[in-house]
Amino acid sequence: METLHLDACSPQSREQAIDEAARLLKEGQLVIIPTETVYGLAANALDPAAVAGIFAAKGRPQDNPLIVHVDRMEQIPPLVKELPPAAEKLAAAYWPGPLTMILPKSEAVPKVTSGGLDTVAIRMPSQPVARAIIARCGLPLAAPSANLSGSPSPTTALRCAQDMDGRVAAIVDGGPCQVGVESTVVSLVGPVPVVLRPGAITPEMIAGVLGECQVDDSVLHQLKEGQTAASPGMKYKHYAPKASVTILRGSSPAFCREVNRRGGEGVCALCFEEDLPHLQVAAIPYGREGDDLSQARLLFEALRELDEKGARVVYAREPHAAGVGLAVYNRLLRAAGFQVETLPEE
Ligand code: TXA
Ligand code: MG
Repeated sequence: METLHLDACSPQSREQAIDEAARLLKEGQLVIIPTETVYGLAANALDPAAVAGIFAAKGRPQDNPLIVHVDRMEQIPPLVKELPPAAEKLAAAYWPGPLTMILPKSEAVPKVTSGGLDTVAIRMPSQPVARAIIARCGLPLAAPSANLSGSPSPTTALRCAQDMDGRVAAIVDGGPCQVGVESTVVSLVGPVPVVLRPGAITPEMIAGVLGECQVDDSVLHQLKEGQTAASPGMKYKHYAPKASVTILRGSSPAFCREVNRRGGEGVCALCFEEDLPHLQVAAIPYGREGDDLSQARLLFEALRELDEKGARVVYAREPHAAGVGLAVYNRLLRAAGFQVETLPEE
């Protein structure tokens, strides 16, 4: 299939891009759209054939459920059995924005969208082009990250094209994503809200509104054999570059010293900008030390650049796993297959 490239960045073509995307989505086709987190591979969430196309295009396991994107609260009641007061409070505080809520699903949501679960994930994105496309087609849109299953989520239209050209009807370019890691997923089906996937809306921010919030074990720990994942996506290998990645825990001097010592053919550092002058090996920075927002914005792009550089062994500087850094660490842990080494300090 020939993939249309629609430019929603320039004011001249923006309206036309939105119109064309909405028209294709209403026809049941697949369209990649920008969101504030990462690019999403969208289709009509209520059309089982269109949603099946998403799984095929990504090579995604059928039991990994999709997030349904809406642009206003009135779209939600038909999708859910009930809208608990906690959901309304979180929506008032953080929607539109990078937060996904797990709620009991209605019959209207096809099983293929919810991965066979009786719950549905709902998010109202804030990116203006995403919002305009949802509004114009008038449909709830199922949209996973627009990468091939297993590779890092795309944060630019170029990265979407590299994975998905020929597999989707269109790619809408809305510029680079501002957040850079996927939305926070919080389950509201139990007695206490539980974060299943950390993102830019932190557990502290959720507890600030609801009084309490737990973080699921799988966020920072590898599932043991036979353990079931609360969020099916967490059990799959994810975000992984082709290289073998190890996280090194330690200060900038300890990290630079150790990486310089181990350096050689195919070795690359995934570091902070401040480390660059002290490294004698190939290095790609992902943000600044102590600046979790810059780290989140740049991590996935850096992982893709490592592949392009042909890195075979990657040593990654450990981010501080607090605030939005929890999301950064969660993604990096998966890219590293949970390999973490603590460095000796002098
Ligand atoms: O920021 C985002 O959330 C992006 C953009 C495009 O909106 N989307 C995204 O979708 O990251 P995806 O499919 O790559 O990740 C969805 C995550 C998966 O980990 C999935 O298992 C989980 O949400 N999820 C979806 N529905 C669920 C449900 N009913 N119960 C538990 N987890 C669910
Ligand atoms: Mg994904």
